[in-house]
Amino acid sequence: MKQFRMLINAADTIGHIEPEIYGHFAEHLGRCIYQGIYVGEDSPIPNTYGIRNDVIAAFRQIHMPVLRWPGGCFADEYHWKDGIGEKSARRKMINTNWGGVTEDNSFGTHEFMTLCELVGCEPYITGNVGSGTVQELSEWVEYVTFDGVSPMAELRRANGREKPWRLKYLGIGNENWGCGGNMRPEYYADVYRRYQSFCKNYSGNQLYRIACGPSCGDWHWTEVMMQNLNPTQTDAIALHFYSIPDWEHKGSATEFTDDEYYAIVESAAYMETLLQMHTQIMERYDPENRIALVVDEWGTWYDVELGTHPGFLYQQNTMRDAMTASLTLNLFNRHSRRVKMANLAQAVNVLQALLLTEGEKLVKTPTFHVFDLFKAHQGGDAVYCFTENAPLCEGKNVPMLSCSASVKDGVLTLTAANLSLHEEAEILCDVCNLDVSDVSARILTQEVHAHNDFDAPERVTIVPHPAALQNGKLHITLPPCSVTAVTLK
Ligand code: AHR
Repeated sequence: MKQFRMLINAADTIGHIEPEIYGHFAEHLGRCIYQGIYVGEDSPIPNTYGIRNDVIAAFRQIHMPVLRWPGGCFADEYHWKDGIGEKSARRKMINTNWGGVTEDNSFGTHEFMTLCELVGCEPYITGNVGSGTVQELSEWVEYVTFDGVSPMAELRRANGREKPWRLKYLGIGNENWGCGGNMRPEYYADVYRRYQSFCKNYSGNQLYRIACGPSCGDWHWTEVMMQNLNPTQTDAIALHFYSIPDWEHKGSATEFTDDEYYAIVESAAYMETLLQMHTQIMERYDPENRIALVVDEWGTWYDVELGTHPGFLYQQNTMRDAMTASLTLNLFNRHSRRVKMANLAQAVNVLQALLLTEGEKLVKTPTFHVFDLFKAHQGGDAVYCFTENAPLCEGKNVPMLSCSASVKDGVLTLTAANLSLHEEAEILCDVCNLDVSDVSARILTQEVHAHNDFDAPERVTIVPHPAALQNGKLHITLPPCSVTAVTLK
């Protein structure tokens, strides 16, 4: 067992944790939307307007704050008018990015906005810049948000929705450096400026406009965006980063060696460098912090499960994913001065999913439970939290412990992950500037390969964990491969 001292200063605020940092992403990809979220009103699977009730309840459980849709790469081929009106008359299309399957457009704007209403989360729509038109995106905003008399508002009413919805988050394209058009940043910056000009604030609705940001460590992209985008026209730029040590050999989601575990953790920990570097570039052009960094795609990416469609990106989810999720969410909290939203890829049945479904069965993954443990951070103030540390393993510049703390309504939440596979960590934590009389903790811990499946859906789940106050200090032991949330009040 290793011993570490930790220090939290509840009065030293380092950022505000927007709930949207705990956001999610649902693309028309594989079984994410169809089967995963949407089964249609005639399905025997219990549903509301065709949306699975078990999925709605699970999303509500973790207080999902925002959901990004319809892609991903899919967004830059999506024509929203194909997804409204009488379902049988909706135009079908090829989903060229994801398996070449037929997309029947039975889940479209009305279904997505209804899903968000049922979940109680903000909708985040990504518009088609790569193969769409300015007019098309401009009309989508009008259709969704305009309350008066106009062609799009009348069309919406004819489709059964009298009142407009509220739409805050609007993405102007997705990965326009790649699947969204293979553009250079100098070109995209101008395209962005043009598109955003015609996305208007109607009827009291205020758009938060998100430009395509860099892939991973493309500092040049961020530099050019910051040189060319105006804070009065741009609220954020969006970084994408997946934890994949080797694109050619991604490896199995469930069968891996200790070294492969360390490689994924090291890859996920690279998020810190990305946040620091992109933030530094942004700081030079925008010291007033008017343009945010959002990370609207992140997560682990492995080989698909044996026997599943290679284009559907269906992977299992183990304690390894819980560890990388907690490491990443702690980083977002710690960088919450500039990071205002993040969206895990993806919500159901795709990549680092929260939920897996098979027919009427549903499984909550270890990653889901991490979001449950961390939800108390939403809307809190991130505060100074420092821990002594040790290297996770030889040869990797990754610490064994990851932590962050926040205060909300006088209650302090500490989340701490022990990333080691073998070493216990005993923590003695000083908490300054908070009167503490009560402490409680909940933990997610199991052997690193452990996962939930349809036969054993509760194998990995949150349980209470002992924590005590010793002479005013928090005393807690973190088992290897564990994520703990401590509440102090
Ligand atoms: O999340 C899967 C894909 O990864 C998204 O469609 C794309 O934006 C990214 O490359």
